[in-house]
Amino acid sequence: MKSVLFSRFFILLPWILIVIIMLDVDTRRPAPPLTPRPYFSPYAVGRSGTRHPLRRGGPDSGPGRGLKKRNESRPQPQPQPEPPLPTIYAITPTYSRPVQKAELTRLANTFRQVAQLHWILVEDAAARSELVSRFLARAGLPSTHLHVPTPRRYKRPGLPRATEQRNAGLAWLRQRHQHQRSQPGVLFFADDDNTYSLELFQEMRTTRKVSVWPVGLVGGRRYERPLVENGKVVGWYTGWRADRPFAIDMAGFAVSLQVILSNPTAVFKRRGSQPGMQESDFLKQITTVEELEPKANNCTKVLVWHTRTEKVNLTNEPKYHLDTVKIEV
Ligand SMILES: *[C@@H]1O[C@H](CO)[C@@H](O)[C@H](O)[C@H]1NC(C)=O
Ligand SMILES: *[C@@H]1O[C@H](CO)[C@@H](O)[C@H](O)[C@H]1NC(C)=O
Ligand SMILES: *[C@@H]1O[C@H](CO)[C@@H](O)[C@H](O)[C@H]1NC(C)=O
Repeated sequence: MKSVLFSRFFILLPWILIVIIMLDVDTRRPAPPLTPRPYFSPYAVGRSGTRHPLRRGGPDSGPGRGLKKRNESRPQPQPQPEPPLPTIYAITPTYSRPVQKAELTRLANTFRQVAQLHWILVEDAAARSELVSRFLARAGLPSTHLHVPTPRRYKRPGLPRATEQRNAGLAWLRQRHQHQRSQPGVLFFADDDNTYSLELFQEMRTTRKVSVWPVGLVGGRRYERPLVENGKVVGWYTGWRADRPFAIDMAGFAVSLQVILSNPTAVFKRRGSQPGMQESDFLKQITTVEELEPKANNCTKVLVWHTRTEKVNLTNEPKYHLDTVKIEV
């Protein structure tokens, strides 16, 4: 009886071992990438699929972590034991329209990949809208939701837009930092109809006072840019009024938080400001052309584009016989 059991055991043993080995091999194989990357990943996927940390000083970027046992042919970014990453404050004026949520979604998808970014969304409205409130609550981004209506008398074609909203963003920043002035930060005006390269944020992060770079698809040209000689801005390549002191688009500059705080009266002006002079009038209050810091390879790379969404065609939108459910678009 015992010997029968023994022989059965020895016949089964190799099979059991084989099964155990198979299971082990299977679990060691890396899981197939069926699931998308987590929302809050601080990495951007490079062309070859390798991930480069965009964040300095994050929990994963300490020396030795994440780089262990790796020796890829591509140069590894150097771990930089530097003081805290300056916060990027993106001020986005926005207003209710059919494409609003689509535009904000595109923007959030970009911003979510940028470390240490705080989004200041300012609605042109008498109250915060439900659409934007709900959207921000789910956006997975540090954000502030402000609103200020544009006075009716300024809502005319030919007049600059979003002046009150950008100023509300500036006021919020100054208020927030009135007691903690030493925190490093960079402010830029991120209109919701532009397209932003992630590289742009790396460039602007090192702004000491005011930095500038080219903008694509703007001013009736493929691009506009500051002209740079010996690392200094000496003029402007632009299709329109190159005689402006700062012939630059809203998307073409960033300002350090320190400069915003030490020039507490610098705002976008309604009075005395000619159309198209918003940027120039604002920059005149806080800097000089000589001081500007050219980014994007001495202003030779386009990292932001003035894409505009085509006006939507709602010709067939019914006035009666509406859908049976109410759907937010
Ligand atoms: C790692 O790569 C460098 C060159 O990129 C090479 O000199 C070095 O020998 C490599 N080390 C290992 C352990 O493969
Ligand atoms: C920009 O130009 C200056 C002066 O020619 C040069 O020293 C600097 O390295 C350039 N910067 C870049 C990023 O190419
Ligand atoms: C709007 O769309 C409808 C249906 O596709 C089309 O018939 C109409 O010509 C479009 N109108 C405009 C102004 O493009």
